[in-house]
Amino acid sequence: MNTTIAVIGSARRNGNTGKLIDWIADALGIEVIDLALKNISPFDYEHKNRGDDFLPLMDDLLKHDNIIFASPVYWFAMSSQMKIFIDRMSDFLSVEELKEQGRKLRGKVGYVVSTSISDKIDGSFLDSFTHTFDYLGLESGGFVHANCENGFNADDYQNDVVNFIESIKLSGK
Ligand SMILES: Cc1cc2nc3c(=O)[nH]c(=O)nc-3n(C[C@H](O)[C@H](O)[C@H](O)COP(=O)(O)O)c2cc1C
Repeated sequence: MNTTIAVIGSARRNGNTGKLIDWIADALGIEVIDLALKNISPFDYEHKNRGDDFLPLMDDLLKHDNIIFASPVYWFAMSSQMKIFIDRMSDFLSVEELKEQGRKLRGKVGYVVSTSISDKIDGSFLDSFTHTFDYLGLESGGFVHANCENGFNADDYQNDVVNFIESIKLSGK
C-alpha cells in the first residue's frame, strides 16, 4: 500500500496553508512536518551543512510513496522555508555518496497544496514545483489551491479538497 507524508513551509504553522494541509492530513491520517521547526541551512557548495536536519528529514520522506508540499504563495513563488528545503535537493546531485539516496525520489508522486490571495494559482509558483518534480524523477500528482483573501474558508473548497484527497486515496493510501 502506498503511504503519504506532507511537509509545510510557511511563516506561520497555523495560518491559511496550515489549516488547508491539516484538513487534508486529518482526512488521510498522515503526518505533516513543519519545515520551520527543522534546522535546514541554505544550499552550500562546500556542503558544510551536512550535519543539519536535511538528510534525516529526507530519510523520513523517502519512506513514503507520496509527498505533499504545502506552501503559501509569497511574491509569486514558494515560501522561503520551502525554497531552502527544495534547494537542498541539489545535495543529491552534487554529493557523490548521496546520489543513491537521491535516486530514491524517482517514481514517487509529488503533490502541491497552496494558498494565496488569488483564485488562480500562479504559474510561476506551480511550475517551480512541477519542474523540480520532473527533474528529480517524481511524478506530478496534482495540486489544490485556496484563495485566502478573506482568510481560509473551508466551505469554499469542499469540492476541490475532497477531490484532491480522493485522488491521493485512489493512488493507494
Ligand atoms: C511575504 C508575503 C508575500 C505574499 N505574496 C503573495 C503573492 O505574490 N501573491 C498572492 O496572491 N498572495 C501573496 N501573499 C498572500 C499569501 O499568499 C496568503 O495570505 C496566504 O494564504 C498566506 O498563507 P500562510 O497563512 O500560510 O502564510 C503574500 C503574503 C506574504 C506574507
